[in-house]
Amino acid sequence: MRAAAIRRGLGGLLLAGAGVMGWAQAQTQSVPAIFRGADLALGERLMREHRCAECHTRQVGGDGRDIYNPKGRISTPGALRGMVELCNTEMNLGMFPEEVTAVAAVLQRDHYRFAP
Ligand code: HEC
Repeated sequence: MRAAAIRRGLGGLLLAGAGVMGWAQAQTQSVPAIFRGADLALGERLMREHRCAECHTRQVGGDGRDIYNPKGRISTPGALRGMVELCNTEMNLGMFPEEVTAVAAVLQRDHYRFAP
């Protein structure tokens, strides 16, 4: 009885585990290669720290998000990362390469959504 219940419990756990792995895999596959494994929480924090939105709001009004234009001149994941790198250099933000990638990955997730 008890052993059966434990086996059922374990089976459930394994199934749940497989489900999570499937989900993680789907997530990974929907993300362009250069942004896979990027630290999204770090990217969000850096965007707050560097006040990206405040400055963009001065350009386009609202909450600044209208500056991110997926149909504009930025049309690939590489170009998006390149644009963040350019802002990084021009404005002397001092971000490391993996930080630039993290920020660009957040923009990919929230605004540009380029196909992998
Ligand atoms: C001091 C002001 C300022 C700050 C700070 C700033 N930007 Fe910008 N950003 C701009 C301006 C101005 C443009 C538009 C440039 C143009 O159209 O030529 C722009 C454009 C962009 C674009 C291109 C949007 C598109 O689709 O064409 C991206 C991406 C971007 N910024 C990312 C960032 C990120 C990420 C940060 C913070 C880490 C940041 N910017 C901080 C002023 C700023």
